[in-house]
Amino acid sequence: LNYLTPKSRQEVLDLLVTGLKRLEYRGYDSTGVAIDSPDNKNIVMVKRTGKVKVLEDAIQELFSGSEYSDPVMTHVGIAHTRWATHGVPCERNSHPHRSDDTNAFVVVHNGIITNYNDVKTFLAKRGYEFESDTDTEVFAKLVHHLWKKHPNYSFRELVEQAILQVEGAFAIAVKSKYFPGECVASRRSSPLLVGIKTKTRLATDHIPILYGKVLPRSDSTSEFMPLEEKEVEYFFASDASAVIEHTNRVIYLEDDDVAAVRDGTLSIHRLKKSLDDPHAREITTLKMEIQQIMKGNYDYFMQKEIFEQPDSVVNTMRGRVRFDGNAIVLGGIKDYIPEIKRCRRLMLIGCGTSYHSAVATRQLLEELTELPVMVELASDFLDRNTPIFRDDVCFFISQSGETADTLMALRYCKQRGALIVGITNTVGSSICRESHCGVHINAGPEIGVASTKAYTSQFISLVMFALVMSEDRLSLQTRRLEILQALSKLADQIREVLKLDSKVQELAKDLYQHKSLLIMGRGYNFATCLEGALKVKELTYMHSEGIMAGELKHGPLALVDDSMPVLMIVLRDPVYVKCMNALQQVTSRKGCPVIICEEGDEETKAFSSRHLEIPRTVDCLQGILTVIPMQLLSYHIAVLRGCDVDCPRNLAKSVTVE
Ligand code: G6P
Repeated sequence: LNYLTPKSRQEVLDLLVTGLKRLEYRGYDSTGVAIDSPDNKNIVMVKRTGKVKVLEDAIQELFSGSEYSDPVMTHVGIAHTRWATHGVPCERNSHPHRSDDTNAFVVVHNGIITNYNDVKTFLAKRGYEFESDTDTEVFAKLVHHLWKKHPNYSFRELVEQAILQVEGAFAIAVKSKYFPGECVASRRSSPLLVGIKTKTRLATDHIPILYGKVLPRSDSTSEFMPLEEKEVEYFFASDASAVIEHTNRVIYLEDDDVAAVRDGTLSIHRLKKSLDDPHAREITTLKMEIQQIMKGNYDYFMQKEIFEQPDSVVNTMRGRVRFDGNAIVLGGIKDYIPEIKRCRRLMLIGCGTSYHSAVATRQLLEELTELPVMVELASDFLDRNTPIFRDDVCFFISQSGETADTLMALRYCKQRGALIVGITNTVGSSICRESHCGVHINAGPEIGVASTKAYTSQFISLVMFALVMSEDRLSLQTRRLEILQALSKLADQIREVLKLDSKVQELAKDLYQHKSLLIMGRGYNFATCLEGALKVKELTYMHSEGIMAGELKHGPLALVDDSMPVLMIVLRDPVYVKCMNALQQVTSRKGCPVIICEEGDEETKAFSSRHLEIPRTVDCLQGILTVIPMQLLSYHIAVLRGCDVDCPRNLAKSVTVE
């Protein structure tokens, strides 16, 4: 909506397309947009399969006419990039979806409407014909049905009635030709925020929430509590990166909030009020800057993010670790430490790379907290209906803070009375807001779908937590000091490892035409094997497997011959002798492994002509230095194989569906 300066429809389209581009990094497969026709009487839509660029080209072709260049003071446009959940990626299934062939109501939606079949049957009986295979289309048609039934309802009331009848997860924005200049949006379980752009500083830092039943249209004008500023633009988006170049003032909507914009004013409404519901939603100021999310001099976001790690690990520790006094303070969790120390066990729960950060730090957590530590994949944890007790402390690790499986596991544990700790990179995300306490990993926005710097920052956050937990344990002070000193050198050592880039690129040339890559290690480096193999799979579409070297003789050794690519991590730590054993088993089967070893370790190097030497650090932090060559290797193999590094096929950055 624009009250700041007049904008043409072409400018509105530009703004929408740029917003979509900012979200594209999450890995989507089709796009679409809806705006008003030049005579304001209808809604025009364009949809395309593929990347936002395809839509952008179509828009340039279709909307270049002068009728689209006339300036307007108020306008609502909606746009969407889709990652298929129901129905294959194609134009017909892309959003916006519409109520009927006059485009009376058009809808964009993230999430899954689980009862869409029931709603579809209900609407089909009333004459609605469906044109897509999506769950979303039922919503557009449901609003239309309600509009026919309740001609006096306001737009907001219609959407509110519709969300009462749908189940599942949604972030939804609706536009209608019957309500020009108005937009209604709502969420349940999927993220949604409102960005507010004004010429002058906002006079308020909150928007009051209006509670109450649906009112007839004549009374509803009073529901809108205008911001004092009349000149204002509003943005609804599922992710702050889509709006940050316009405004850093945002409101994160809560489940079942219905936000409506009309006549340049915003209202937030809820049907029911319970005792502890707040009176207002806060307007927060985001610190994220647009430069932070741009690619800089790198070819790919992922490459940039790998090379950012000397800084991102420091940012994770900034203001928290005092190397001079050997003290660590984690502000978001410190009040809960006594309670955590009394717990029965620690549960670390996540998906993908975030899960690997739990595997990587489990041993140190066990050592420094002397508590049982369980690491769990969120999906499997839920499948098993795992017993959870009031005196459990459950950590939810998630870069995005929105991963549906992790969020559902969080709610499962919260319901059972456990203490919930969030470890996320996204301030204001669902996991953040639903946790009792937590640690922001402060790695900065991560855009490449394959996670890199978030992993090393999650790793360090968990190490810092272990250090906090052992602060008053006399017997552990020498160990703590050793780790603290190693942390202080880490950024420089990461810089050293990054210098291996060209050597890793050469190695990638040897490997990229192979079908498979086995990555072996144990102890503190087993997580690197899992994470390295995940990176190779995600980015290069090659088969790869992280193998616990201790399990070699129980099966994987059968795969080894002179042609199977193998990478082995053999460092001078407590499992060195065992790793050497595995190395010998591999070389005696004519395997020719690439070895990741410590700088100057001639004895280990002698086993192969191909090695990558990394600096020495304390055993429990080695995983940070060994994972970086794996990130670089998968990156280079992906480039050589011509893969889309930042948006691997079939994957999404933020998986907000189960
Ligand atoms: C997706 C991404 C992975 C990520 C995982 C967990 O699968 O492609 O890179 O590790 O989700 O995401 P989260 O945001 O919860 O860390």
